[in-house]
Amino acid sequence: MSSRIKDLNDKLAQAYLGGGPERIEKQHQKKKLTARERVAYLLDNGSFEEIGALVIHRTKDFGMEKQQYYGDGVVTGYGTINGRPVYVFAQDFTVFGGALSETHAEKICKIMDLAVKSGVPVIGLNDSGGARIQEGVRSLGGYADIFHRNVQASGVIPQISAIMGPCAGGAVYSPAITDFTIMVEDTSYMFVTGPNVVKTVTNENVTSEELGGASAHASKSGVAHITSSNDAECLDDIKKLLDYLPQNHGEKPLKLPFEPGDEIRDSLLSIIPDQPNKPYDMHEVISGIIDKDSFYEIHKDYAKNIITGFARLGGRSIGIVANQPMFLAGVLDVNSSKKAARFVRFCDSFNIPLLVLVDVPGFLPGTDQEWNGIISNGAKLLYALSEATVPKITVITRKAYGGAYDVMNSKHIGADMNFAWPSAEIAVMGAKGAAEIIFKKEISDAEDPDAKLKEKETEYAELFANPYIAANRGFIDEVILPQYTRRKLLKVFAMLENKQMQGPKRKHGNIPL
Ligand code: COA
Repeated sequence: MSSRIKDLNDKLAQAYLGGGPERIEKQHQKKKLTARERVAYLLDNGSFEEIGALVIHRTKDFGMEKQQYYGDGVVTGYGTINGRPVYVFAQDFTVFGGALSETHAEKICKIMDLAVKSGVPVIGLNDSGGARIQEGVRSLGGYADIFHRNVQASGVIPQISAIMGPCAGGAVYSPAITDFTIMVEDTSYMFVTGPNVVKTVTNENVTSEELGGASAHASKSGVAHITSSNDAECLDDIKKLLDYLPQNHGEKPLKLPFEPGDEIRDSLLSIIPDQPNKPYDMHEVISGIIDKDSFYEIHKDYAKNIITGFARLGGRSIGIVANQPMFLAGVLDVNSSKKAARFVRFCDSFNIPLLVLVDVPGFLPGTDQEWNGIISNGAKLLYALSEATVPKITVITRKAYGGAYDVMNSKHIGADMNFAWPSAEIAVMGAKGAAEIIFKKEISDAEDPDAKLKEKETEYAELFANPYIAANRGFIDEVILPQYTRRKLLKVFAMLENKQMQGPKRKHGNIPL
């Protein structure tokens, strides 16, 4: 027996060494942790249970039968984060560059199946040279097996992808389907085709970092939801994110204990400037409403004209969507609509109530926007908010103009409770634009057209640039004083805690993609 035990221990020791000390050293030189170090850092101390440590590949081509590493380039298993179970896979770059073989894919699929069956989030730590070139189509099949499972698991359990090294070619589509992609700055990149192919096809000279580094995907493409400055920060970000989420679609997110007594926030009184076109930072409104330091922003550097993120209100996890007057005056455009729509759908899938803060002058005009589909993209946000069945609450802080008023969680598309501050202006458009159109002839016939325009603008503003016509019709449930917003929202989210709603019976809706 003792020789058998030794044999097992030797095999496991080999497995723990991955591609060997030299390759581990190389990984460290690149400022990257190894797969096992990452798993150990991510999970609660001592909680990791490995599955498939002794799996090896089955390839015989190109002398591969002589190159065998236990685990086949991916560490898989389960453990806990802050006491809550998760499944995890971590690709091991020290073994064939973390390249995905048939057996490597089978290991990932196995934990994904277990995660779905047990209603537990799945976390993928990606660091891979892509398809295992020696395996050809068997490796491609492995990717597709994972993609199919990502789709089946979507909306059932939270799926989080960290990109902690290369992620190229077909490999990018698994993270793309998961709920959140977190990229490590400087050491990770994602692209469908790399700089060499780009050069051949489009004659563009571009580096990996420029093409698909964390910053490009966080600010230009929106593929990355979060960026982290190193491996440890990335793993901390995953832990932080999970704190706001339930384990699966059948559960509610954790409610943390909170101390009442901080409900009236006078800071909210002085945020909205007197001049209607002057910007202000919607982040100040958010922090004036939520539990202290609880905002976790998603897509911070992408489509900054809308803010999305998780927060806590009285210990409850909520999702916030807010126009940001600091960027493009907070207009809705193609990217901000897509960003907010996907966030809303995530929250709705996982029972996270929504708070929508509105200061929107309308949709961004122009050929660029029209030709890039502001119609169908704007419709995504309208569709997502309309379809969501979680508690949905709106606070209009200033402008709510035109079609954007409808889209931004208006009463008409199913919001449960709509509030406005006295500074709200709910109208078809701004007073100047409106006066120019409806009093066009009167203005052009006037002796002093500028003075006439001003007079008509004031007339229109006095009539419509306020929340009262909407409140008179019940489109706004209550006009509230800014300093009492938090107190009001605490009550309203508590009141809607057990909201139950079912949409019409159908296979699935057809969101304009
Ligand atoms: N299949 C099989 N082995 C691979 C691999 C792949 N797709 N990608 C990398 N490897 C192996 C390398 O042969 C090398 O093996 P070794 O340690 O035995 O020498 C090891 O992984 C590390 O790769 P290396 O090229 O030395 O690392 P790097 O950091 O310099 O470069 C990449 C990383 C990902 C840029 C580079 O390995 C690469 O271009 N890989 C191929 C990408 C690709 O075309 N994938 C297939 C299509 S998706």
